[in-house]
Amino acid sequence: MKASFAIVGCGRVGCALAGQMQRAGYRPAGLASKSLSSARDAAEQLGTELFSDKPWEVTKHADVVFITTPDGQIENAASLLADKQGVKKNAVVLHCSGSQPSTILSVLKPCGVSIGSLHPLQSFASKQMEGNPFENIIAAIEGEPDAVAMASRIATDLSATCLTIRTDAKTAYHAAAVVASNYLVAIQDLAFRLLALAGIPPENAFPVLGPLIQGTVANIKKVGTQKALTGPIVRGDTDTVRTHVHEIRRLAPDLLSLYQCLGRHTVLVAESGGNINEEKAAELLALLSES
Ligand SMILES: NC(=O)c1ccc[n+]([C@@H]2O[C@H](COP(=O)([O-])OP(=O)(O)OC[C@H]3O[C@@H](n4cnc5c(N)ncnc54)[C@H](OP(=O)(O)O)[C@@H]3O)[C@@H](O)[C@H]2O)c1
Repeated sequence: MKASFAIVGCGRVGCALAGQMQRAGYRPAGLASKSLSSARDAAEQLGTELFSDKPWEVTKHADVVFITTPDGQIENAASLLADKQGVKKNAVVLHCSGSQPSTILSVLKPCGVSIGSLHPLQSFASKQMEGNPFENIIAAIEGEPDAVAMASRIATDLSATCLTIRTDAKTAYHAAAVVASNYLVAIQDLAFRLLALAGIPPENAFPVLGPLIQGTVANIKKVGTQKALTGPIVRGDTDTVRTHVHEIRRLAPDLLSLYQCLGRHTVLVAESGGNINEEKAAELLALLSES
């Protein structure tokens, strides 16, 4: 028989987890949230009457407790469960934050539980329980051995792929995810603004650059970052880089520092891939550091 579970925080991730865990055969011990209405709505979707705005009432019988409050509330929620003796001995308590380590649940250690985190590397936009948002995504897992074992079983049962990481690596892991997703958006915004300087309006920017973006991503997947790099920097074409710098300074000086900053990292990629020598790299870096 699969473990019973409780959810504390019936928001987007809490609801998705509850729906999918039940479908995977885990038994709901109850759902709790700050507001009773959120807990009740989630319980209705799940078809259970076990809900409360007093988390310790639903967590005390659960084999695994998920704290899916906003990051800033995880420690408070854990403290409340500890104060109320709201977890059973040998239970596993997990949170789902990408940036916070499992050790923020340490206040629960005297209750005899195993603590960990399971971060679904996915964007959850709604509280709907339909479909499986965990399918084929990465679930980054860390924490104490029993918690890691339980989290890995759950992730596998939800059709996610487990990535076990070190607790002290959580911040670097999350920074990587932010760069891969959020900074990609910021870089495309820079590209769209530069395209606007060429007279191409924002609504046409993706049709123009989309195939290039998708081709580049496909190349990274196929051959890795160093070999996927094309363009003036990897060719050592300082004249072209110089004209870019001058033209951006003339037309949109506020965009220059970001162009140069990304360019300097591109020089490092080109140099470490053996495409340009140290001297050429120094020349390019000087151009890309001009104020
Ligand atoms: N959304 C994502 O894309 C995503 C992706 C990966 C990981 N995560 C992580 O998943 C966790 C939850 O994020 P989310 O996006 O699902 O947040 P959310 O949609 O804002 O839901 C959080 C829920 O927790 C409830 N809550 C707040 N404080 C509480 C407390 N002290 N005790 C009990 N319940 C409390 C909220 O209040 P009410 O009861 O008032 O509704 C709300 O329903 C976070 O750690 C986040 O970093 C999120």
